Formats: sequence, C-alpha cells, structure tokens
Amino acid sequence: MVVTPAHLSRAAATLGNDEVRRIRNDFPILHQSVNGKPLIYLDSGATSQNPLSVLEAEQEFYEQRNSAVHRGAHHLAVEATEVFESARETVAAFIGAGWDELIWTSNATEGLNLLSYAFLNASLPGAAPEAARFALAPGDELVVTEMEHHANLIPWQQLAERTGATLKFIPVDDDGALDLEAAARIIGSRTRVLAFTHASNVLGTINPVDRLVALARAAGALVVLDACQSAPHLPLDVKALDVDFAVFSGHKMLAPTGIGGLYGRSELLNAMPPFLTGGSMITTVTMERAAFLPSPQRFEAGTQRISQAIALAAAANYLSETGLSRIHGWEAELGQRLVQGLESIPGIRVLGPAAGQDRIGLAAFDVAGVHAHDVGQFLDSRGIAVRVGHHCAQPLHRRLGLTASTRASTYLYNTTDDVDAFLNAVADVRAYFQA
Ligand SMILES: Cc1ncc(COP(=O)(O)O)c(C=O)c1O
Repeated sequence: MVVTPAHLSRAAATLGNDEVRRIRNDFPILHQSVNGKPLIYLDSGATSQNPLSVLEAEQEFYEQRNSAVHRGAHHLAVEATEVFESARETVAAFIGAGWDELIWTSNATEGLNLLSYAFLNASLPGAAPEAARFALAPGDELVVTEMEHHANLIPWQQLAERTGATLKFIPVDDDGALDLEAAARIIGSRTRVLAFTHASNVLGTINPVDRLVALARAAGALVVLDACQSAPHLPLDVKALDVDFAVFSGHKMLAPTGIGGLYGRSELLNAMPPFLTGGSMITTVTMERAAFLPSPQRFEAGTQRISQAIALAAAANYLSETGLSRIHGWEAELGQRLVQGLESIPGIRVLGPAAGQDRIGLAAFDVAGVHAHDVGQFLDSRGIAVRVGHHCAQPLHRRLGLTASTRASTYLYNTTDDVDAFLNAVADVRAYFQA
C-alpha cells in the first residue's frame, strides 16, 4: 500500500522550513524532550528516524500477513511472498535497478562482505568455471580510497590477505577530495576491483562517480559503489552511474534496522558464487552436491527479513513522493549553513570541502582543545544528538591528523532552526571547557 506523506501539498524545487515542519509530523520520535530541551536530531548519518507510514507497513505485515516467503502454499504464505517481492520491485526501481538485481542484505556491511566472500569463493580450487572472472591471485589489485568507511575497507583487506592480491588506495587531498591524478596512476591493467564511496560519511564530499568509473572501465575493473550516504539523500540511478555493484542500508533511509540492499548487474550476479548457502537458494540437492537458483534467491539463503523489506519499500515510497532532488536541495542548503556557521566560530576546524563547495548535508569538525566526546556530551545537555568518534573511518582521521571528530548530519526532517540551535551551542563549547 502506498501512503502519500501528509506534508505533500506542493512541489517546489526544494523543501523549505514550512514543509519540513509538516514532514516532522510524520515522525513521532522527534516530538520529545531530551535533558529538558526539545530533541534536535542531527545524527541521521548514523541512523535515520522512521515515518508513520514505515512503522505502519511493518505492523500491518505482522498483523495481517506474517508467514515465511517462497515456502508455503497457504494463503498467508502466498500473500507474504507477494508483498515481499513487490517490496523488492519498489526498492529496485528506487535505485534504477531491475527486480532480479536487488539482493536483500542486513545492511551495507553485509552487502560488501557478500561481495568479498563471492570473490574469495571464486578464487578457491573447484570454483565453477563461470566464476573465473571473479577469481583473484597474487599480482591482481584491489583499489579503494582513503575516505572509506571501515565497511568498505576491511572486507577488501581480508580478501587481499586471503588471495594474495594487493590492496591499493586513492589518497584524499587537503580539501577532502580524492586525488584524481593519483587515481589515474593507481588504477591500471592489474586492477580487478575499484570500490569507493559515493559520498563520504565524514567529509561530506560527493565523489565524481563518472570519472572513477571511466578509469575502472579503461582498466577492465569491476566497480563497487558504497551508496550508504547517497541513496537516502539524492536521486540514485545505478544504471546511469554505470557501476557494477552498489550497497546501501535501510536504517539510513527512514527504514528499520536489519535491512539493506546489494545491487549487482544481473549477468554478474548469476555468475558469482553464493556467500551463504542453505534453504531457499537451490534448485536440486543431493547428499553430495547442490545446484543454485539464479539471482536474487541465489544470495538469499534462509528465512528472510520480510517485514523489514516491506518497511524499506514504504520508506522508498516516502522518499520518492517527497522527491529526492528536493531533499538533496534542502540538505545541500543545510550543509552549507552548517559549514558557514562552523567556519565562523573561533577554534573550529571543519573537515572536508570548504563553504560554497558541493557536499551532502553533514559536517564533521574538530574543536581545538576539547575532545569530541566532551563536545557530544555538551551538545546532548542541550538536547542535540550528534555523532562523535572516528565514524568508522580511522585511516581518514589519521590522514587529517585527528583521532576523533564531532559530526552533525541532517535529513529531510531538519529545519534551519535545528542548525542554528546547534551552531549556537557549538559556539559555547570552548568557553564551557575553558579551552
Ligand atoms: C559511507 C558508509 N558506508 C558504510 C556504512 C556501513 O553501514 P551499516 O553499518 O549500516 O552496514 C556506513 C555507516 O555509517 C557509511 O556511512
């Protein structure tokens, strides 16, 4: 069932505070006080909140249709299978993919591990002949970037270690952009995989997918896009971007935890060895061997996350009906307001692109003389929720000469008042800690 968000009364090019205030009515969690202050939620880069239509979709499944999918012949099982597969079609369309090119995962981390294990399995003796294009050996190279979340780094490190392949990385320059000249030198005939983030969860940088894909294509390498920080915030079309694989997490795009997606070009998915094996992913099984179904079932062993997939489809509908371009436009405004405001506060160093340059609606920063955890606690005392730490990007923080930073990240339910209250609080941090 498609529920039109209550706030949709007009379709301007961006959201604007009035519409955001109406959007907020769809999010019950935002209407509470924290430490005696109205909650200001600026941690959507870590996890986002759920609108009523998403909560209702999950509840409706459990109240009306709860049953295992692809397994039963009874009424509930058939209905559950229908809504589960219809959710797949909705979310696949949301990212511009075909229905059989979207595999449900728990989150982006699992999607990336699925891929790296598929490459590992293809590299083992006895792998199916059609998997040869994924097999890695010493001399092969995997390329990532210095701004990756650990989820898009460690699986490739492990894969390199186990296959003898070499892991290389594209460095980040002082403005928080990828060094594309270095990328052109690093990506070459030995490169088998280029894995990079669409948008940085620390710097806010939006990477030039077209230029990186062009380098990978010229080298004959496969491209893996980490779309965790882009799928929730801007229009994403995996076919137009011409990537081979992409991953995202539902909980960062208004859906519950426990659901995410892996996109793969169908001819690649159908040649790739599975990661998890077991029930619901086979055609025939003997005591010695098993033959596998095509994608997506090939990669969906065991009982699936059914209600979460349905809720993710409701989230995708909510985002599509609000309009991803309008959401992106609004968050770009909030992002600029954050950066300009932070840059004007003495003792604050903003990470990533300077004010005026493209970024998603988040900003991470360092406060001279105050540890990020103290900054976070101070902001919490004012009801403001932010993320502190290395944001699962230790190598990037090391490159920036830091161990931790504080990050404010916006979404479609944040107003300019939220940003201003946050900036006013940050302006008080150094005085409070006598830094
Ligand atoms: C850019 C990026 N990639 C990957 C992830 C991992 O997402 P998850 O923990 O949902 O698997 C995150 C989460 O913060 C992220 O921001």
